[in-house]
Amino acid sequence: MQTLDVVPAVIYSKSFPGLKYLFVNKKFHEVVDSNIENFMGLTDDIVFLPEVAKTLSKNDREIAKKKEVQHFEERVPHPDGTFHDYDTYKFPMLDENGDVYAVTGISLDITERKKTESVLRTSMKLASLGEMAGGIAHEINNPLAIIDGTVKKMTRTLEQENSIDKVFFQKMTKKISEMTSRMSKIINGLLVLGREGALDQHVDTDSAWLFETVLELVCANVTYKGIEIKKQFPSKSPLVKANVVQMSQVLLNVLENACYEAKKAESNWVEVRVIETSTTVLFEVVNVCSDCQGRIVEFFRPFFTTKPLGEGTGLGLSISKGIVENHSGTISAKFLDEKTICFTVEIPKSSEMS
Ligand SMILES: Nc1ncnc2c1ncn2[C@@H]1O[C@H](COP(=O)(O)OP(=O)(O)OP(=O)(O)O)[C@@H](O)[C@H]1O
Ligand SMILES: [Mg+2]
Repeated sequence: MQTLDVVPAVIYSKSFPGLKYLFVNKKFHEVVDSNIENFMGLTDDIVFLPEVAKTLSKNDREIAKKKEVQHFEERVPHPDGTFHDYDTYKFPMLDENGDVYAVTGISLDITERKKTESVLRTSMKLASLGEMAGGIAHEINNPLAIIDGTVKKMTRTLEQENSIDKVFFQKMTKKISEMTSRMSKIINGLLVLGREGALDQHVDTDSAWLFETVLELVCANVTYKGIEIKKQFPSKSPLVKANVVQMSQVLLNVLENACYEAKKAESNWVEVRVIETSTTVLFEVVNVCSDCQGRIVEFFRPFFTTKPLGEGTGLGLSISKGIVENHSGTISAKFLDEKTICFTVEIPKSSEMS
């Protein structure tokens, strides 16, 4: 048992069905309440606040019911009053008849890791917004210049001509309307990405709308001008339960990566698809890449980038992986042939989430 006292994890066993502590290691004493000398025989509602005790006992009972190892994220207060997040594995202990007599848990404090991830997510969001701003400013300036020119032309005509040429004016106002709708699409995309707060909120979201909004931004970026986007969306777009800001970041990164590589490979097309399965929605992005064969595993490693210094952080995919997993989904890549790569983000359809 002494070995269990030197590991940095919190380890404990509780009897079943009473859920009374049978064993706790030294780390447990340190982080739970060093004033309690002996935890043996105590239950969680004596050791923890009622809400915390309720969740822990619920997880313990689930282990005993399912009789298998399970993974949880549990939040418990430390003696200084701060709440810490724990990555916990719990497993049942069975007697000779196969009945559960105890539940054992091993928990690692991941509070710092979660804080770092959150800072990284924010900095990635800021970096991608900053990078885009330059490209998009140009794209908004163009329609603005066209609107300005059209209005001047209309004013001049009004001043010079006595009678109004209806067809001419209809043509001019149509042009203005097209330009303003283009700009508002771009600005909507920026608003979605820049939205503050509600970071944990997952709402029913139209999958094609989500992809389109991000596509608008990528297409508006002057860096990716000339890249043809081939779209394959279902006629009826399925709903996903998503945190719109975070999922937009994920799709934006996948799309920007694809456009960047397509341009580098001089293929100049990217294919995007939304595919509905019985339980999930797949967002797929396909592109040609010049020299990426065999490197897929590396792509997901933090700070791995093939972009020149100052152009990429190499964090896009690793942060996206965390976000997608938070949506109970997966992100993966595969080669369709020697030079064509397909990135897939798969998340559950709305009704599949609890
Ligand atoms: N669609 C793709 N085709 C080919 N290579 C890709 C593709 N997507 C990603 N990669 C490779 O994976 C690397 C890591 O991608 P990731 O999004 O994590 O970071 P990045 O794009 O380099 O930087 P950032 O996301 O900060 O701009 C890329 O630099 C590139 O080498
Ligand atoms: Mg990237």
